[in-house]
Amino acid sequence: MKTTSDFLRMKAAGEKIVMLTAYDYPAAKFAEEAGVDMILVGDSLGMVVLGYDSTMPVTVADMVHHAKAARRGAKNTFVVVDMPFGSYHGDVNDTLKTAVSMMQETGADALKVEGADDVLPVISKLTSAGIPMVAHLGLLPQSAGVLGGYKVQGKTAEQAKKLIEDAKKCEAAGVCAIVLECIPHQVAEIVSANLVIPTIGIGAGVDSDGQVLVYHDMLGYGSHHVPKFVEQFADMGAAARQGIAGYVEAVKAGTFPAPKHFFTMKDEALDQLYG
Ligand code: KIV
Ligand code: NA
Repeated sequence: MKTTSDFLRMKAAGEKIVMLTAYDYPAAKFAEEAGVDMILVGDSLGMVVLGYDSTMPVTVADMVHHAKAARRGAKNTFVVVDMPFGSYHGDVNDTLKTAVSMMQETGADALKVEGADDVLPVISKLTSAGIPMVAHLGLLPQSAGVLGGYKVQGKTAEQAKKLIEDAKKCEAAGVCAIVLECIPHQVAEIVSANLVIPTIGIGAGVDSDGQVLVYHDMLGYGSHHVPKFVEQFADMGAAARQGIAGYVEAVKAGTFPAPKHFFTMKDEALDQLYG
């Protein structure tokens, strides 16, 4: 399994890091088999799996439930788990307890938190407790209400400067990687060039040290809104709809199940049954 030192080496060598979200056993297994370097059990599961319209309702218990399944599917891949909304903004000792139990229950390799500022002491505290931490800057879905929606961040020189500084502070606080979401590609390039640790971009151009996408978005699996920065590499939704429609039709028509699906009793036993 690749570790944080492999990710540092990959960045130094200019080798792209591929991250993909996964929320269950088969998705994590597919990701591992395809050679994904890092799996993210993201709180985006609130939208793509649980049907909420934001990440806000997602709980620690939800994250643990899905992370355990993903871990079982990808035993040899670095698994990062999101700390959900509200789980790391209270007392830092409570946050540590939450983080420790998330690590112990799920077998995760790292935890991810959104933002800098108030979150920097949290990053330091958890890192010193031995928990590899990943930061998340730019568009922070857990703060969408405060940001006024899901919008590109860091477009002004002032905002970009703050982002570049925040990234350095996260690195100094001990994170092993930083996710950069929905920022101008030029800003992602500067941030990446300014850090030793790798950046993982989403909607942040091609100059981050790696990329991350949401499983359901990139596979066309679901009926939620798919952002502009996503490339759909497959259409699982179409395959699923077609398959289910075929099943409905076959049952209604009596063509499924067919004899090849039947279990058969021997004639002798059948004779006895009829007496
Ligand atoms: O929850 C998630 O899927 C994420 C990615 C968008 C980085 O945080
Ligand atoms: Na997330």
